[in-house]
Amino acid sequence: MRISIFGLGYVGAVSLACLARDGHQVIGVDIDRAKLELLRDGKTPVVEEGMVELVKSVAASGRVTVTDDVAASVRDSEISLVCVGTPSAPNGSQDQGAVLRLAADLGRAIAAKPEPHVIVFRSTLAPGTVEDVLVPILEKESRRREGVHFHACFQPEFLREGSSIRDYDKPPFTIVGARGDYPVERLRALFGHLPCEFIRTSIRAAEMMKYCCNNFHALKITFANETARLCEALKVDPFEVMSLVCRDTQLNISPAYLKPGFAFGGSCLPKDLRATTYLARTHDVELPMLGGILESNRQHLARAFDKVMASGARRVAMIGLSFKTGTDDLRESPLVVLAEQLIGKGIALSVYDPDVSLSRLLGANRRFIDAHLPHIGDLIRPGIAETVAGAEMIVVGTANPAVLAELAGAVAPPQRILDVVRVPAQQFGVPVEGLCW
Ligand SMILES: NC(=O)c1ccc[n+]([C@@H]2O[C@H](COP(=O)([O-])OP(=O)(O)OC[C@H]3O[C@@H](n4cnc5c(N)ncnc54)[C@H](O)[C@@H]3O)[C@@H](O)[C@H]2O)c1
Repeated sequence: MRISIFGLGYVGAVSLACLARDGHQVIGVDIDRAKLELLRDGKTPVVEEGMVELVKSVAASGRVTVTDDVAASVRDSEISLVCVGTPSAPNGSQDQGAVLRLAADLGRAIAAKPEPHVIVFRSTLAPGTVEDVLVPILEKESRRREGVHFHACFQPEFLREGSSIRDYDKPPFTIVGARGDYPVERLRALFGHLPCEFIRTSIRAAEMMKYCCNNFHALKITFANETARLCEALKVDPFEVMSLVCRDTQLNISPAYLKPGFAFGGSCLPKDLRATTYLARTHDVELPMLGGILESNRQHLARAFDKVMASGARRVAMIGLSFKTGTDDLRESPLVVLAEQLIGKGIALSVYDPDVSLSRLLGANRRFIDAHLPHIGDLIRPGIAETVAGAEMIVVGTANPAVLAELAGAVAPPQRILDVVRVPAQQFGVPVEGLCW
């Protein structure tokens, strides 16, 4: 394929070398003449394992040219990969100056080209940038329509500096965010041979998931480092601890706990986080990340409260009360806290949870509910029909399929549902609002 690559930094230079190695004809474009000179001389513009030899060999192959001429590069290629920098601005926002200027240049270059051209944004971009900002610039400058005369898509880059050629050849996956089939198929032709899944998604999801991946990596590093600081103070070997933590591939290094839903609660996570941060305080160890988790969880719970209050409903039914489906444990259940807050605002609340039987609640579980919802006996109804009768809004806090099926038969407009646990919403036949979806 004939490919033009804009921006010859770490991402662009490695892509240029690897694509040329794989037999493609590649045009490298940069505004930095020093980088163009280096490549012209067969030298790498970035220090990276394997790049000295690779650039030398692809330069000798005759498959690489370099230029600062945007129009000629677009004219002489079928597909353009945009790899310019998107650094931080002083206020923390993404400085998109380079990509915005380049989009205008690319738009003018497309205007002069009769064949359809594919533009692949590979720079990390704030979600919405391609569809809301870059496509409008390209369309304005080219006076052509995206999806008809040219195609724009987003393909996040996952290489890591230091091992970027190896990462290019073995990425975790290839993600392509696109609106039409054509750019996806062009990219499948370029990257479909790589030993990983090729996944198509929306442009916005592809933009967001790149941020999400980097945030997750930063979070993992910080988690290990905060744990190590506390370990040191407690005279525990942090390497031993973290290596044991990583041995659990069911709950720790796994998709478990990574599905958006309601606030966490129960008898373990809140109390152990509290104890951890207390331990840290007493040893003069600062753990800002771990120490911020309970506050974030509180804010997540507050969203549910705010949504119920904003709905204007004064009679509310709650389906589910325990901290998760399938248990009768009410300790630190976010639904109990929500119920407490709603009652505090004078909401008439009725509650149903098939797993919670007041007469069977014992010990700490009983003490928790007595302290937080002392009049729970007046709220709990024996069945779903009685619980939802007369309610304007129903908070669904259980994923029990039998309960949801029965609920579907008991609700009717103008009743509304606030789903806090992400249940299949189509079954209800009344408007369903989510917590964040
Ligand atoms: N470095 C990484 O490991 C990595 C990994 C994944 C994603 N990314 C993302 O990829 C993008 C590029 O990162 P990088 O580290 O390669 O950046 P970089 O700063 O090393 O290189 C960017 C290049 O773009 C050039 N440039 C600027 N304006 C241009 C224009 N109008 N036309 C042509 N070239 C232009 C610059 O001169 C520079 O050579 C960023 O959005 C970054 O967040 C980087």
